[in-house]
Amino acid sequence: MISSPLMTVMVDAVRKASRGLRRDYGEVENLQVSRKGPGDFVSAADRKAEETLRDALMKARPGYGMVLEESGIVEGQDKSHTWHVDPLDGTANFLHGIPHFAISVGLERDGQIVAGVIYDPVKDELFVAERGKGAYLNNRRLRVAGRQDMADALIAYGTPYLGRGNHPRLLREVASVMAVAGGTRRMGSAALDLAYVACGRLDAYWERDLQTWDIAAGIILVREAGGFVTSADNASEPLAARSVACGNEALHRELVGILRKVQA
Ligand code: IPD
Ligand code: CA
Repeated sequence: MISSPLMTVMVDAVRKASRGLRRDYGEVENLQVSRKGPGDFVSAADRKAEETLRDALMKARPGYGMVLEESGIVEGQDKSHTWHVDPLDGTANFLHGIPHFAISVGLERDGQIVAGVIYDPVKDELFVAERGKGAYLNNRRLRVAGRQDMADALIAYGTPYLGRGNHPRLLREVASVMAVAGGTRRMGSAALDLAYVACGRLDAYWERDLQTWDIAAGIILVREAGGFVTSADNASEPLAARSVACGNEALHRELVGILRKVQA
């Protein structure tokens, strides 16, 4: 585990917000069968978790700016530091009672992500990373998977929601990857997709049309676990491009090569 004042601040904030989220998830499971469904209830749970995170992070680091999924941008006095906060990544899973979602908090310093925490409250899995200090799942040091051959690899991707993104291009990309990969997954939480690459459960992952709060924490997790992360077109920093392709060096190279050949 990483013991630094920064990590303590981040982990405390995330754990605090997770308590309400876990309670609310129990309730969502009961609301599934109601006609109206749990939609409004989930939005309220999401906002509550964000408030808890915002208050805790502001109290500990008053000058830092914030980019929050629900409430947008909060300008800080300290222009070097920005939190990227997703109080509930995997909202559709949460809403449908699928136990795969997480809180994600990343810290950007002068354009670089320097620390990240992703917490899955259902499985009680805490993923943390800080620049130069490694990546951990609970107390275990993380390393990306070592598989070199696509035919053995499990590759995740993200699908855009209705009315968003380029569906035909994604279908072509998925077809190209399926033609060579051992298996594919669409798990439903970008933050956990990145965390799962960091810990070697997934071999590689790509997705476009993301937001900084979806990926900030995951980028540093994968890098500190020895993996490669770029934008999906392999041309820029993922945070700026809001897209990712990641994996170990060999599979990242092969994946971006496949994506490049698919017409936009
Ligand atoms: C979504 C999830 C999903 C990804 C979407 C994101 P949300 O975040 O990370 O896996 O495919 O692009 O918007 O809406 O659940 O916070
Ligand atoms: Ca998200």
